[in-house]
Amino acid sequence: MRNILITGGAGFIGSHVVRLFIHNYPDYKIINLDLLTYAGNLENLKDIEGKSNYTFVKADICDYDVVADVFSKYKIDGVIHLAAESHVDRSIKDPFSFAKTNVMGTLSLLQAAQNYWEGDFNKKLFYHISTDEVYGSLNEKGFFTETTAYDPHSPYSASKASSDHFVRAFHDTYNLPVVISNCSNNYGSHQFPEKLIPLFINNIKNNKPLPIYGKGDNVRDWLFVNDHAKAIDVIFHKGKLGETYNIGGFNEWKNIDLIKVLISTVDKLLGRKEGASEKLITFIKDRAGHDFRYAIDASKLKNELGWEPSLQFEEGIKKTVQWYLKNEEWVKNVTSGEYQKYYDEMYE
Ligand code: NAD
Ligand code: TYD
Repeated sequence: MRNILITGGAGFIGSHVVRLFIHNYPDYKIINLDLLTYAGNLENLKDIEGKSNYTFVKADICDYDVVADVFSKYKIDGVIHLAAESHVDRSIKDPFSFAKTNVMGTLSLLQAAQNYWEGDFNKKLFYHISTDEVYGSLNEKGFFTETTAYDPHSPYSASKASSDHFVRAFHDTYNLPVVISNCSNNYGSHQFPEKLIPLFINNIKNNKPLPIYGKGDNVRDWLFVNDHAKAIDVIFHKGKLGETYNIGGFNEWKNIDLIKVLISTVDKLLGRKEGASEKLITFIKDRAGHDFRYAIDASKLKNELGWEPSLQFEEGIKKTVQWYLKNEEWVKNVTSGEYQKYYDEMYE
């Protein structure tokens, strides 16, 4: 029996984590706290909203009093913290909201846990979900390990790096039982179509230009979101206190090559001629401070806790494209109104 606070559970990765915990641990009570910003959507969890072990709380992680009430009302003994502003391009336009949510919001949760647990840390855990972007940018060679020095370049990664430092500071200063994981780029269902993969699937489908930053030669490591959720489950239950675990897909792609796979998959599934949508490729001005390459050495997680990605990339991409093509209504709902304004400002 555990009472677990999951923050950001109506967003992309959070909704997969909530679903996995609801199904795998019927004895746990899962409290999903989310502000439902543009990126959070209760439709993401429609299939589990009636479950007796699930509670949703609409709140801002920055609101310390509300967060503290949630800890005592639901007798929280575990936290999996995913709520964040998560898109690099938005952070370039509005760094303040990233500092507020990602830094101050994390601090508010840490302080609430610290005060509620009052030094009795038996069977308690504060698990902070972070990104490989805190390590900065690699050139052609090498991998990020858990001991790579932090070197963030975007306001997003700087805010996540700062939140990681606060989590470690609470461990070192107050003995708060914490664990951190830093994961590479995720893909899969329910991702807001501002990020590369869902944005491009949607544009290919609608014959809209595919805006590629620079020459498209930046490299990312891609992990299927359900595999990230499984890694979070393993680390939550078996991770060592005070430790960091890198999570990656062992799956690096140059943007332009990945985009060609997307084009070919969408075209095939829509019955178009092979490569018909390649004409949509449009090279645009590079993203400011664009990190060249991310690559993760996830061997600590594999060797110590036995986790590895379960899905081959081609299979994951096919499943992902099928999901976005089938869930037109979901895409339509999240891309109306404010999204249109954002898209016009960003690309047109
Ligand atoms: P997302 O943007 O899809 O979802 C974020 C969620 O947080 C949304 O539901 C939003 O409503 C909620 N939220 C935002 N501000 C809030 C606030 N002030 N109070 C309460 N809730 C708030 O993000 P995601 O891609 O699912 O990422 C989740 C976490 O995983 C983030 O911490 C991110 O840094 C990390 N991460 C993401 C990736 C990736 O590829 N997407 C990779 C590694 C790590
Ligand atoms: P993104 O999905 O925003 O993730 P991150 O920047 O956190 O890695 O972008 C993935 C890669 O795709 C990154 O190198 C930037 C590039 N990209 C484009 O070329 N065009 C776009 O419109 C977007 C959103 C991303």
